[in-house]
Amino acid sequence: MNTSITRRRLLQSAGAALTMVALPPALHAQTPAPTVLRPGPAQLRLRPSGAGTRVWGFNGAVPGPVLRYPQGARVRVAVHNALPQPTTVHWHGIRVPNAMDGVPQVTQDPIATGARFDYDFTVEDAGTFWYHPHQASFEQVGRGLYGLFIVDEKKPVPVDREMAWVLSDFKLGRDNQQVNDFGDVAHFGGGGRLGNLLALNGRPGVSRMQVRAGERIRLRLLNACTARIFLIAFQDHAPWIVSHDGQPVEPHAIPGGVLLVGPGMRTDLVLDCTGKPGSSFSVLDRRDKGAELARITYSLRPPVRASVLGVPEPLAPNPIPEPDMSKAVDHFVLFEGGLLGRPAIGVIDGKPRKLHEIMSEQKLTWTMNYSAQHEHAQMHEPLLRLRRGEHVRLKLINDTEFEHPMHLHGHTFRVLSVNDRPERFRPWRDTVMIGPRGSAELGFVAANPGEWMFHCHILEHAAGGMMGTFVVED
Ligand code: C2O
Ligand code: CU
Repeated sequence: MNTSITRRRLLQSAGAALTMVALPPALHAQTPAPTVLRPGPAQLRLRPSGAGTRVWGFNGAVPGPVLRYPQGARVRVAVHNALPQPTTVHWHGIRVPNAMDGVPQVTQDPIATGARFDYDFTVEDAGTFWYHPHQASFEQVGRGLYGLFIVDEKKPVPVDREMAWVLSDFKLGRDNQQVNDFGDVAHFGGGGRLGNLLALNGRPGVSRMQVRAGERIRLRLLNACTARIFLIAFQDHAPWIVSHDGQPVEPHAIPGGVLLVGPGMRTDLVLDCTGKPGSSFSVLDRRDKGAELARITYSLRPPVRASVLGVPEPLAPNPIPEPDMSKAVDHFVLFEGGLLGRPAIGVIDGKPRKLHEIMSEQKLTWTMNYSAQHEHAQMHEPLLRLRRGEHVRLKLINDTEFEHPMHLHGHTFRVLSVNDRPERFRPWRDTVMIGPRGSAELGFVAANPGEWMFHCHILEHAAGGMMGTFVVED
């Protein structure tokens, strides 16, 4: 693999000077074969009795296969669409070239049923990322289409073992099948479509995490729910946060002991198993009345090490351009609307409309900078136009009664402040949670040319108008 990567780099630089020279076939043969992802119908056993649940999965699985590459590797994925509707695949958090971003109508044509699309890009950043469709994502993600995308650091944090938890939820009827209420405008304008059954790595119920006393475990968390927000608390354990959204942060304990993981967000923890052999502890969701998400269960074997390890070493930063806030240009995005609070007025196709009057016909309930638009609408104005290389200070103001995890494609930003309070670590993120009537200030360099989605990752909100684009002009 390494040799082919090096050769490809050589070819790329040679290709820049000699664009017309055909590549010799022998070298073509050396490029890695693409990984195949086949989104299609699948079955999952979510309840102990009765029928299995019909879901959609990648390669028959929910979550889909873990895609894993070393940092700097070339990624080739061939997506064969076996779904009864068009799809695309988006690589959430990965700074890909625009044409590989997987957004229907904006960066590519949707992949029709039975058709194939080849994604091809290089992973510059190490960390925990994920992939999911961007076409009707409120339904396609809700039905089970998501998977982890892990890029390994050249020097990972030393641990005894690694685990990943993909958190998701399903809304099942008494027949064990998914309730077919995708696209309900009450979900679009309210708190999103919440499931009634939680799954951890596609398995229902409380998962047992079998550990041995003294172990140090890296735990990658992903919230793949369309709408559910988690507030995760570890009983009698104090894990270290080592990254958010795949991006290293100075290792620190979970502030206040409760970790917020909103839809689309990830956090990597280093968990020291400080319990005694034979003991067991809960991992709780404080948001959901303290429901148990998992149970850390210690084997009877003696501890792996005598003493508790100290703070882990920080991971090496990813090569993201650092925003210089002293020369940053100010921009803002204002969110309004939703089914609670003051009804929004939005501009739709150039005309001001009262959203609550046209909601059932248009299914638009939110505005961003006074505009309401359908997902990936073809005829739309970008929310922001940025110059390539521009240093951006972006203020987000949420004038709604709801929380919104806001996600930007193609870029990673620093969270400078939340509700006007400076953030302690100014963490790099690709998704930032903004509370009701709250605000956040972000900093980034508009380094990646193209038209990029900026949307709420409560996917029903995105479908209800909280989706727009930033254009980075070349
Ligand atoms: Cu995770 Cu625009 O998406
Ligand atoms: Cu939202």
